[in-house]
Amino acid sequence: MLRHLTDTRDFSKEEIKEILLKASQFLNGDYTDTLKKKLVINIFFENSTRTRSSFEVAAKRLGAEVVNLDVATSSSTKGETLSDTATNLDAMGPSAIVIRHSNPGVPKILSRYVKSSIVNGGDGAYAHPTQALLDLFTLNKALGSVEGKNITIVGDIKNSRVANSNIELLQRFNANVTLVAPVHFMPSYSNVRKLYKLEDAIKDTDAIISLRTQTERHQYPIYASLKDYALDYKITKKLIGDKKIFLLHPGPVHRNIDIDDDMLEDERTLVLKQVENGVAVRMAVLEKLILDR
Ligand code: CP
Repeated sequence: MLRHLTDTRDFSKEEIKEILLKASQFLNGDYTDTLKKKLVINIFFENSTRTRSSFEVAAKRLGAEVVNLDVATSSSTKGETLSDTATNLDAMGPSAIVIRHSNPGVPKILSRYVKSSIVNGGDGAYAHPTQALLDLFTLNKALGSVEGKNITIVGDIKNSRVANSNIELLQRFNANVTLVAPVHFMPSYSNVRKLYKLEDAIKDTDAIISLRTQTERHQYPIYASLKDYALDYKITKKLIGDKKIFLLHPGPVHRNIDIDDDMLEDERTLVLKQVENGVAVRMAVLEKLILDR
């Protein structure tokens, strides 16, 4: 059966455990060209450093061919609809199309038009499922398991697809999630603990996921300067002290706004581990979607 990954909910808990186990094997270099003669197409309508290249590296490590559509020079600039762009690329016979778009729901809609697996590389403020999977993988490696652990998400949560996907996945794996943000960045979830002061969350947290302020999604400037936001929400070495708290960030990091330089260098900061793990997790996702049919 053709499967898509538009949302973390597309995979059951058992399937996610399988994917993370496979990712562990891949991380240890235990992989072959299982996707030889398969084609993966990346269509990124929003900029990306990590996700696009991570999918490309993941697909190539498993022997697949990869095409990156250059959206800026594609016929979408000549009025071609999104679904026509997708169906035309689909006609070239890819096994998977990875798509990023600023509008929430685009991957889900496109999945109805194509014969390949759609993988959501991030849609608006809605979902970023592979980021949440790689974050779960990274947290599991650092903490043993997220079950019963306190995970704090800090930042512009209301505008963050990473937060949305992480909240769903971490709660499903029985982590205690706390959100920390100023009131205008706090989402309207009713089933998550919310705090407005970072110091209140630090006392009992096992890990922090820091997020960037998503100024591109703000309709009007919320802070005169991001330095004002940083005064209350920047993760600093002074704040963490000698506590055993792991620090994650999906990137791109606003240095000295989200996290200070010293803390970024700290061994408890797992930002580059997330990137490394992300390739292995995406290899496992692509293999599952393409081969489990
Ligand atoms: N984490 C993440 O989505 O980064 P990019 O925007 O660089 O892909």
